[in-house]
Amino acid sequence: MLEASLKELEASARARIVSASSAQELEAVRVEVLGRKGVIAGISKQMAGLPAEERSAVGRHLNAVKRALEAEFAARQAEFAEARLAARLDTEWVDLTLPAPGPRPGRMHPITRLQCEIEDLFLSMGFAVLDGPETETEYNNFDALNIPRDHPARDAQDTFWLKGETLLRTHTSPVQIRGLAKLKPPLRMIAPGRVFRNESVDASHEHTFYQVEGMMVDREVSIAHLIYYMKAMLTGLFHREVTVRLRPGYFPFVEPGFELDIHCLICDGAGCPVCKQSGWVEQMGCGLVHPNVLRMSGLDPDVWNGWAFGLGLTRLAMMRYGIDDIRLLQSGDLRFLYQF
Ligand code: PHE
Repeated sequence: MLEASLKELEASARARIVSASSAQELEAVRVEVLGRKGVIAGISKQMAGLPAEERSAVGRHLNAVKRALEAEFAARQAEFAEARLAARLDTEWVDLTLPAPGPRPGRMHPITRLQCEIEDLFLSMGFAVLDGPETETEYNNFDALNIPRDHPARDAQDTFWLKGETLLRTHTSPVQIRGLAKLKPPLRMIAPGRVFRNESVDASHEHTFYQVEGMMVDREVSIAHLIYYMKAMLTGLFHREVTVRLRPGYFPFVEPGFELDIHCLICDGAGCPVCKQSGWVEQMGCGLVHPNVLRMSGLDPDVWNGWAFGLGLTRLAMMRYGIDDIRLLQSGDLRFLYQF
């Protein structure tokens, strides 16, 4: 009787193994048939009641069925595993022959780019490019530039004072003093660099920004020379004729001193938010080097004279690239930098 049900069991289990449509379904069948509480375990228990010789014959048969079914399950499980792998390979493949993407190349900061262009322009006109330290002496930053002790520019509000008589330079003009000490006149120099002012920061004010200083000292230097070089620089930078105007401006280290404005390049002088509807944009301070400055650097103002300018590089970059918030320039934000 048990023999008959064994045959039947084997046949029906095989049929279910073959027709199982998923690994889960197959596993359910396996537990039902071969599991600890499965059909085969049940038959094993019933065998206890059989006479000895019949028991060993049925036992052998049962073992054979069990092994056969186990092999059947294993083969079918392997089929499902293979199908799963094939499906994964269809979706998750990489082309190992593709070149690696590599590191993202850097970009030149808009201010650096402008600085390089200005350096090239002035180098081509015979100027030296000087570098000065960002921490300066009070003497170079103020005294030697004829800025009196009680001048508001020395106010603690504008200057970051350091220990002793040192400070973070508030402009690039101290490099004029360094240039006069280092180079013998006649001389032509520019000095680009970072400057600092103790100001609260908003869309148009930064405590840290960039300037380019320029100076020429020779025997008969006039305002005509100054205007010539300023126009040469602006035309070189903007690749077109730029209209400039001079207004009187007070800087203790130049006499006469001027503010140089350019015709707004965004609206062409018609009036827009950038030029505050005036048609003109303030570009730099400039003038003829004050005799006191020459004297303090050991030059005779009856023999030597010169012009100097200080250009706001940060403002120029904003104008050229249409940047409306000064804080972006120092933000280090790659979304901003990758636009240039
Ligand atoms: N140093 C001045 C400033 O920072 C600019 C300037 C430089 C003016 C040279 C005249 C001559 O505002």
